[in-house]
Amino acid sequence: MQILNDISLKAYNTFGIEAKAKRFVSIDSVAELKNVYTSETNTPKFILGGGSNMLLTKDVDALVIHINIKGKTIISQTEDTVFVRANAGENWHEFVLWTLKHDFGGLENLSLIPGNVGTSPIQNIGAYGVELKDTFHTCEALNLDTLEIETFTNSDCKFDYRNSIFKQEAKGKYIILNVVFKLTSKNHVLHTNYGAIAAQLEHMCISEPTIQEVSKAVISIRQSKLPDPKKIGNSGSFFKNPIISKDAFLKLQNNFPKVPHYVISENEIKVPAGWLIETSGFKGKTLGNYGVHKKQALVLVNYGDASGNDILELSKLIQKTVWRLFDINIEAEVNII
Ligand code: EPU
Repeated sequence: MQILNDISLKAYNTFGIEAKAKRFVSIDSVAELKNVYTSETNTPKFILGGGSNMLLTKDVDALVIHINIKGKTIISQTEDTVFVRANAGENWHEFVLWTLKHDFGGLENLSLIPGNVGTSPIQNIGAYGVELKDTFHTCEALNLDTLEIETFTNSDCKFDYRNSIFKQEAKGKYIILNVVFKLTSKNHVLHTNYGAIAAQLEHMCISEPTIQEVSKAVISIRQSKLPDPKKIGNSGSFFKNPIISKDAFLKLQNNFPKVPHYVISENEIKVPAGWLIETSGFKGKTLGNYGVHKKQALVLVNYGDASGNDILELSKLIQKTVWRLFDINIEAEVNII
C-alpha cells in the first residue's frame, strides 16, 4: 500500500474528466483499509469505487481511497438457490458475466451497467425492470467511526428507486466491503416484459430464452442506446426519472397526450426525464466537446477534454428549461464533486 501525491483521476471516472487527487491510495484488502483509517485519523478522505456515477468539477483536496478489493465466491448452493459473494472492487459487469457462466440467474437484466459491486447498493442500480434489491441478500460494510464490520440485510438497506440508506442516514459513515446475492441455480425467473427486451429477443429469433440470451439482448439494447464510456465519456443517466403527483401528471398529459409514464402508486407517476429533455430540444445538442447523447437524452457526454464545470452548467440549463416548460424538477442522479 503506497500513498501517492498529485494523481490524475481521469482514468478513474467514466466521464473522463481531468481532475487531480491531492493524495491517492489503492486498497486491496480490508486490513489495508483499516490501516489507512487508523494511521490517517485527521485526514479528509474521499472514497472512490468504479467512478461511474460522479462528475468531478474540481481537484479533490483529500486522500482519495480507491477500493480495489477483489474476489468472488460461491458461499452455498442448494438445488434451486445459490448464495454468492462479490467483494467491493469487482467490476459489476464482469461479476454478472461470472454468474451467468455458472448458470446462476437473477442479474442478467443488469448486464453492462458500469461501476463496481461495492457501489451498486448505494443507488440500488436498476435496468429493464429489475433492481439490485431483487437479488441483494446482505452486505458487509466498515463502520468508519468504530472500524467494526457490520452486516446490512436487504430491509436494513431501505432500498428504493435509485436510493438506499447509504445515500441517506448512513451516507459517509460506511464503506461497503462485499455484497452477497441470492440467485437461482435452476428454474430461473425471466424478466422479459420490458418492451425493448421482448422486441430484441424476437429480433434475435429467440422464443424461449435462457438467462444468457436475456443478457445478450440487454447488452445489445444498451450498446445501441448508451455510449460506451471507454469511447465517449459519460456517467449513464445523468438525471433521475422524476416522480410526480397524479394531478401534475394529468395536467402534463393534457398538454402532451403521448407522454410516456409508469404508474408507481395511486398518486405517484414516474415520467422519463429522457422524454422531458428530448421534448425540451436538448437531445443530441453538442457544445464543442460535450453535450447530450444523440440516442438517449438522459445521458450527458464528454467528447474530449470537457471540464466538469462545462457539464455541470449544461445540466443546470437543462434543469431550468425542463422546469420552465413542464413545472417539473429533474434531480441529478450522479454525485457532483
Ligand atoms: N425517452 C425519450 N427520449 C430519450 C430517452 C427516452 O423520449 O431521449 C423515452 C423513451 O421513448 C421511453 C422512456 O423515455 O418511452 C424510457 O426510456 P428508456 O427505456 O430508455 O429508459 P429511461 O427511463 O430513460 C432508465 C434508467 C436507465 C436504464 C433504463 C432501462 C433511470 C434514471 N435510468 O432509463 O439506467 O438503463 O431505464 O431500464 O432510471 C443509469 O441509471 O445510468 C441507466 C442507464
